Amino acid sequence: MDGLKIGEVIGKRRRELGLTQNQLAQRLNISFQAVSKWENGTAYPDVATLPNLAAVLNTTIDSLLGYSGIVTDYDSRYRTEEYYWGLKPNRICYDIMKLLPPVKPYRVLDIGCGEGKDAVFFAKCGYWVTAFDISGPGIEKAKKLAEHNQTNVNFFQADIFDFRPEGEFDIIFSSGMFHFIPETQREELCSSLKNHTATGGINALNVFVRKPFIARAPDSAGDGGQRRPWRSGELFGYYHDWLFHICREEIFDCMSGGTPHKHCMDTLIAQKI
Ligand SMILES: C[S@@+](CC[C@H](N)C(=O)[O-])C[C@H]1O[C@@H](n2cnc3c(N)ncnc32)[C@H](O)[C@@H]1O
Repeated sequence: MDGLKIGEVIGKRRRELGLTQNQLAQRLNISFQAVSKWENGTAYPDVATLPNLAAVLNTTIDSLLGYSGIVTDYDSRYRTEEYYWGLKPNRICYDIMKLLPPVKPYRVLDIGCGEGKDAVFFAKCGYWVTAFDISGPGIEKAKKLAEHNQTNVNFFQADIFDFRPEGEFDIIFSSGMFHFIPETQREELCSSLKNHTATGGINALNVFVRKPFIARAPDSAGDGGQRRPWRSGELFGYYHDWLFHICREEIFDCMSGGTPHKHCMDTLIAQKI
């Protein structure tokens, strides 16, 4: 282990999650001075602290210690034979197709593509697709799906917090992923996606939003607070200067985790004019 690295990793993850040193310290029940010392390299966390520290930072002990390989709580879901999210493309894919039908190989970027069902669907329809996800097992499965469908997708494993798009895309798409983006980074992320969209191109995004009358999903307990629903309408605000084609908020039933519950979701398809 490179002893100097762990403090940098802690600081980086903490900032990505939008936490102050004090907030991280409170979650770990330690003093903020201890966090400060880790981050400036004058002390290392105690070994006994590492499991909790990794959980709070939504990472692994290996990653904290600088070993490569990211493991997420989606990995185990994706390590099965069957496709966790099924193989049917998301409804939003058809909405996208209506707006920009594949009359030419439009460039699509799918962020948090999971096991690749939507990316493969777009590629089969004739789009030129780049897609990434933080989960290695998800990307492996996505590649198999592309192979099985004899289609080509540029799949790779990456963390949205490290990834910066190169060049422009015609369609930037993300479904079920943006609730991992901390409040403090949303505006900047949307602005970067907008900048990397060609004129006439679209961004198609959905986000879980919180409503005071909808209880927290039972299976989101124990996620270390990583899933952060957006404010209702927040996503729309970041795109106020684009043309809205679809701007909807809906409440739907969900059975994930085996207990019936509800979610509220904002969906936006907006075009850069
Ligand atoms: C609810 S799943 C949606 C998967 C896919 N978009 C779909 O609809 O089938 C959320 C996905 O976001 C991915 N994800 C979570 N945090 C991420 C991050 N920091 N960078 C990239 N992908 C991430 C997860 O691994 C997971 O595959």
